[in-house]
Amino acid sequence: MARRPILAANWKMQKTTGEAEAFAKDFVPRVAGAEADVALAPPATALHVLGRALAGSAVALAAQNVHPEPKGAFTGEISPDMLVDVGCRYAIVGHSERRTLFGETDEFVAAKAAALFERDILPIVCVGESLAQREAGETLSFVGGQIAASLARIPEARAAEVIVAYEPIWAIGTGKTATPAMAQEVHAAIRERLGQLFGAAGEAIRIQYGGSVKPDNVAELMAQPDIDGALVGGASLDPESFAAIVRFNG
Ligand code: PGA
Repeated sequence: MARRPILAANWKMQKTTGEAEAFAKDFVPRVAGAEADVALAPPATALHVLGRALAGSAVALAAQNVHPEPKGAFTGEISPDMLVDVGCRYAIVGHSERRTLFGETDEFVAAKAAALFERDILPIVCVGESLAQREAGETLSFVGGQIAASLARIPEARAAEVIVAYEPIWAIGTGKTATPAMAQEVHAAIRERLGQLFGAAGEAIRIQYGGSVKPDNVAELMAQPDIDGALVGGASLDPESFAAIVRFNG
Protein backbone atom coordinates (compact mmCIF):
# COMPACT_ATOMS: atom_id res chain seq x y z
CA MET A 1 0.00 0.00 0.00
CA ALA A 2 1.29 3.45 -0.85
CA ARG A 3 1.62 5.50 2.28
CA ARG A 4 2.45 9.20 2.03
CA PRO A 5 5.85 9.86 3.63
CA ILE A 6 5.91 12.00 6.76
CA LEU A 7 9.07 13.75 7.90
CA ALA A 8 8.99 15.52 11.25
CA ALA A 9 11.58 17.68 13.00
CA ASN A 10 11.88 17.34 16.76
CA TRP A 11 13.86 20.33 17.97
CA LYS A 12 13.68 19.25 21.63
CA MET A 13 14.86 22.05 23.99
CA GLN A 14 16.40 24.11 21.22
CA LYS A 15 15.62 27.37 19.39
CA THR A 16 14.26 30.70 20.59
CA THR A 17 11.29 32.36 18.90
CA GLY A 18 13.60 34.37 16.66
CA GLU A 19 15.56 31.29 15.67
CA ALA A 20 12.35 29.40 14.88
CA GLU A 21 11.13 32.23 12.64
CA ALA A 22 14.45 32.44 10.83
CA PHE A 23 14.37 28.68 10.28
CA ALA A 24 10.88 28.84 8.76
CA LYS A 25 11.88 31.62 6.38
CA ASP A 26 14.81 29.65 5.07
CA PHE A 27 13.20 26.19 5.16
CA VAL A 28 9.72 26.63 3.67
CA PRO A 29 10.86 27.58 0.14
CA ARG A 30 13.35 24.70 0.16
CA VAL A 31 10.60 22.10 0.56
CA ALA A 32 7.95 23.65 -1.69
CA GLY A 33 6.28 20.93 -3.73
CA ALA A 34 7.76 18.06 -1.71
CA GLU A 35 5.74 14.86 -2.06
CA ALA A 36 5.53 14.30 1.67
CA ASP A 37 3.90 15.57 4.82
CA VAL A 38 6.33 17.78 6.71
CA ALA A 39 6.10 19.02 10.30
CA LEU A 40 8.22 21.04 12.70
CA ALA A 41 8.01 20.50 16.47
CA PRO A 42 9.61 23.48 18.24
CA PRO A 43 9.70 23.97 22.02
CA ALA A 44 6.37 25.16 23.43
CA THR A 45 7.53 28.77 23.70
CA ALA A 46 8.00 28.97 19.92
CA LEU A 47 4.77 27.22 18.87
CA HIS A 48 2.75 30.39 18.41
CA VAL A 49 5.36 32.32 16.46
CA LEU A 50 6.28 29.34 14.31
CA GLY A 51 2.61 28.59 13.61
CA ARG A 52 2.25 32.10 12.23
CA ALA A 53 5.42 31.80 10.19
CA LEU A 54 4.16 28.53 8.64
CA ALA A 55 0.60 29.73 7.98
CA GLY A 56 -0.35 29.27 4.35
CA SER A 57 2.57 26.91 3.71
CA ALA A 58 2.46 23.12 3.37
CA VAL A 59 4.64 22.71 6.46
CA ALA A 60 2.65 21.76 9.55
CA LEU A 61 3.16 22.65 13.18
CA ALA A 62 3.69 19.93 15.78
CA ALA A 63 4.03 19.96 19.57
CA GLN A 64 6.60 17.88 21.44
CA ASN A 65 4.22 16.93 24.24
CA VAL A 66 0.74 17.50 25.64
CA HIS A 67 -1.19 16.84 28.83
CA PRO A 68 -4.32 14.69 28.45
CA GLU A 69 -6.60 16.78 30.67
CA PRO A 70 -8.57 19.63 29.07
CA LYS A 71 -7.74 22.14 31.82
CA GLY A 72 -7.00 22.47 35.51
CA ALA A 73 -4.31 22.49 38.16
CA PHE A 74 -1.43 20.94 36.20
CA THR A 75 1.40 23.43 36.67
CA GLY A 76 3.70 23.59 33.69
CA GLU A 77 1.49 21.55 31.40
CA ILE A 78 -0.24 22.37 28.10
CA SER A 79 -3.66 21.05 27.02
CA PRO A 80 -4.80 19.76 23.63
CA ASP A 81 -7.03 22.85 23.23
CA MET A 82 -4.03 25.10 23.71
CA LEU A 83 -2.28 23.25 20.89
CA VAL A 84 -5.36 23.72 18.69
CA ASP A 85 -5.23 27.42 19.58
CA VAL A 86 -1.72 27.83 18.15
CA GLY A 87 -2.43 25.73 15.06
CA CYS A 88 -0.85 22.35 15.78
CA ARG A 89 -1.62 19.54 13.36
CA TYR A 90 0.44 16.90 15.20
CA ALA A 91 1.85 16.26 18.66
CA ILE A 92 4.66 13.88 19.60
CA VAL A 93 3.77 11.71 22.59
CA GLY A 94 5.80 9.17 24.51
CA HIS A 95 9.21 10.22 23.24
CA SER A 96 11.84 8.09 24.97
CA GLU A 97 13.26 11.18 26.66
CA ARG A 98 9.86 11.77 28.25
CA ARG A 99 9.53 8.12 29.18
CA THR A 100 13.00 7.79 30.71
CA LEU A 101 13.70 11.29 32.08
CA PHE A 102 10.17 12.18 33.16
CA GLY A 103 8.76 8.77 34.03
CA GLU A 104 5.94 8.67 31.48
CA THR A 105 4.16 5.33 31.30
CA ASP A 106 2.38 3.64 28.40
CA GLU A 107 -0.92 4.42 30.17
CA PHE A 108 -0.14 8.14 30.31
CA VAL A 109 0.94 8.10 26.66
CA ALA A 110 -2.29 6.30 25.71
CA ALA A 111 -4.34 8.97 27.48
CA LYS A 112 -2.47 11.71 25.64
CA ALA A 113 -3.00 10.07 22.24
CA ALA A 114 -6.73 9.69 22.91
CA ALA A 115 -7.06 13.30 24.11
CA LEU A 116 -5.33 14.56 20.98
CA PHE A 117 -7.74 12.71 18.68
CA GLU A 118 -10.63 14.35 20.53
CA ARG A 119 -9.24 17.71 19.46
CA ASP A 120 -8.34 16.54 15.96
CA ILE A 121 -4.59 16.67 16.46
CA LEU A 122 -2.78 13.59 15.16
CA PRO A 123 -0.47 11.91 17.68
CA ILE A 124 3.01 10.78 16.73
CA VAL A 125 3.38 7.93 19.23
CA CYS A 126 7.00 6.98 19.96
CA VAL A 127 8.24 3.54 20.93
CA GLY A 128 11.67 1.94 21.06
CA GLU A 129 13.93 -0.35 23.01
CA SER A 130 17.04 0.34 25.09
CA LEU A 131 20.43 -1.14 24.26
CA ALA A 132 20.08 -3.62 27.15
CA GLN A 133 16.73 -4.80 25.80
CA ARG A 134 18.15 -5.20 22.30
CA GLU A 135 21.12 -7.16 23.60
CA ALA A 136 18.79 -9.39 25.61
CA GLY A 137 16.81 -10.19 22.44
CA GLU A 138 13.71 -8.47 23.81
CA THR A 139 13.27 -5.81 21.14
CA LEU A 140 10.25 -7.19 19.30
CA SER A 141 8.32 -8.25 22.38
CA PHE A 142 9.05 -4.99 24.22
CA VAL A 143 8.15 -2.73 21.29
CA GLY A 144 5.05 -4.83 20.53
CA GLY A 145 3.93 -4.35 24.12
CA GLN A 146 4.53 -0.59 23.94
CA ILE A 147 2.46 -0.40 20.75
CA ALA A 148 -0.50 -2.26 22.24
CA ALA A 149 -0.46 -0.29 25.49
CA SER A 150 0.28 3.16 24.07
CA LEU A 151 -2.42 2.88 21.39
CA ALA A 152 -4.96 1.23 23.68
CA ARG A 153 -7.26 4.23 23.82
CA ILE A 154 -7.28 5.69 20.35
CA PRO A 155 -10.67 5.65 18.60
CA GLU A 156 -10.83 2.59 16.36
CA ALA A 157 -12.46 4.50 13.49
CA ARG A 158 -9.45 6.82 13.33
CA ALA A 159 -6.70 4.29 13.85
CA ALA A 160 -5.39 4.71 10.29
CA GLU A 161 -4.48 8.34 11.07
CA VAL A 162 -2.19 7.71 14.02
CA ILE A 163 1.54 7.97 13.34
CA VAL A 164 4.00 5.65 15.05
CA ALA A 165 7.67 6.54 15.47
CA TYR A 166 10.08 3.68 16.10
CA GLU A 167 13.13 5.13 17.79
CA PRO A 168 15.67 2.71 19.26
CA ILE A 169 16.95 4.56 22.32
CA TRP A 170 20.54 3.57 21.61
CA ALA A 171 20.35 5.33 18.22
CA ILE A 172 19.00 8.67 19.45
CA GLY A 173 21.57 11.44 19.33
CA THR A 174 24.41 8.94 19.32
CA GLY A 175 25.25 8.86 15.62
CA LYS A 176 24.48 5.12 15.72
CA THR A 177 21.67 4.50 13.25
CA ALA A 178 19.98 1.14 13.10
CA THR A 179 20.88 -0.40 9.77
CA PRO A 180 17.99 -0.27 7.30
CA ALA A 181 17.55 -4.03 7.73
CA MET A 182 17.47 -3.78 11.54
CA ALA A 183 14.93 -0.96 11.37
CA GLN A 184 12.80 -2.79 8.80
CA GLU A 185 12.67 -5.90 10.98
CA VAL A 186 11.14 -3.90 13.82
CA HIS A 187 8.88 -1.87 11.52
CA ALA A 188 7.50 -5.09 10.03
CA ALA A 189 6.83 -6.45 13.52
CA ILE A 190 5.10 -3.20 14.47
CA ARG A 191 3.00 -3.40 11.29
CA GLU A 192 1.97 -6.95 12.17
CA ARG A 193 0.99 -5.87 15.69
CA LEU A 194 -0.99 -2.93 14.27
CA GLY A 195 -2.84 -5.37 12.02
CA GLN A 196 -3.76 -7.51 15.01
CA LEU A 197 -5.00 -4.44 16.86
CA PHE A 198 -6.72 -2.50 14.09
CA GLY A 199 -7.25 -4.87 11.16
CA ALA A 200 -6.95 -3.29 7.71
CA ALA A 201 -6.10 0.14 9.21
CA GLY A 202 -2.75 -1.33 10.23
CA GLU A 203 -1.67 -1.21 6.59
CA ALA A 204 -2.44 2.51 6.38
CA ILE A 205 -0.68 3.60 9.57
CA ARG A 206 2.56 5.42 8.89
CA ILE A 207 5.59 4.27 10.85
CA GLN A 208 8.49 6.70 11.12
CA TYR A 209 12.02 5.69 11.97
CA GLY A 210 13.99 7.93 14.33
CA GLY A 211 17.53 7.87 15.67
CA SER A 212 20.43 9.69 13.99
CA VAL A 213 18.61 10.14 10.68
CA LYS A 214 20.74 12.33 8.40
CA PRO A 215 20.65 13.51 4.78
CA ASP A 216 23.06 10.72 3.82
CA ASN A 217 21.20 7.80 5.40
CA VAL A 218 17.55 8.79 4.95
CA ALA A 219 17.12 7.40 1.42
CA GLU A 220 18.19 3.85 2.32
CA LEU A 221 15.96 3.88 5.37
CA MET A 222 12.99 5.19 3.37
CA ALA A 223 13.56 2.49 0.75
CA GLN A 224 12.48 -0.15 3.28
CA PRO A 225 8.92 -1.35 2.72
CA ASP A 226 7.62 -0.52 6.22
CA ILE A 227 9.51 2.73 6.83
CA ASP A 228 7.17 5.58 5.95
CA GLY A 229 8.97 8.58 7.34
CA ALA A 230 11.44 9.91 9.85
CA LEU A 231 11.42 11.72 13.16
CA VAL A 232 14.59 13.77 13.19
CA GLY A 233 16.36 15.48 16.07
CA GLY A 234 19.90 16.78 15.56
CA ALA A 235 19.82 16.89 11.76
CA SER A 236 16.57 18.89 11.79
CA LEU A 237 18.08 21.94 13.47
CA ASP A 238 19.60 23.24 10.26
CA PRO A 239 17.16 24.16 7.46
CA GLU A 240 19.38 22.93 4.65
CA SER A 241 19.96 19.58 6.36
CA PHE A 242 16.30 18.99 7.21
CA ALA A 243 15.22 20.06 3.70
CA ALA A 244 17.64 17.48 2.26
CA ILE A 245 15.99 14.86 4.47
CA VAL A 246 12.51 15.90 3.32
CA ARG A 247 13.72 15.64 -0.28
CA PHE A 248 15.15 12.17 0.30
CA ASN A 249 13.84 10.98 -3.04
CA GLY A 250 15.55 13.75 -4.98
P1 PGA B 1 18.27 12.30 16.70
O1 PGA B 1 16.91 12.35 17.58
O2 PGA B 1 17.85 12.45 15.26
O3 PGA B 1 19.07 13.48 17.19
O4 PGA B 1 18.92 10.99 16.96
C1 PGA B 1 15.75 11.70 17.13
C2 PGA B 1 14.66 11.87 18.15
O5 PGA B 1 14.92 11.78 19.37
O6 PGA B 1 13.48 12.07 17.80
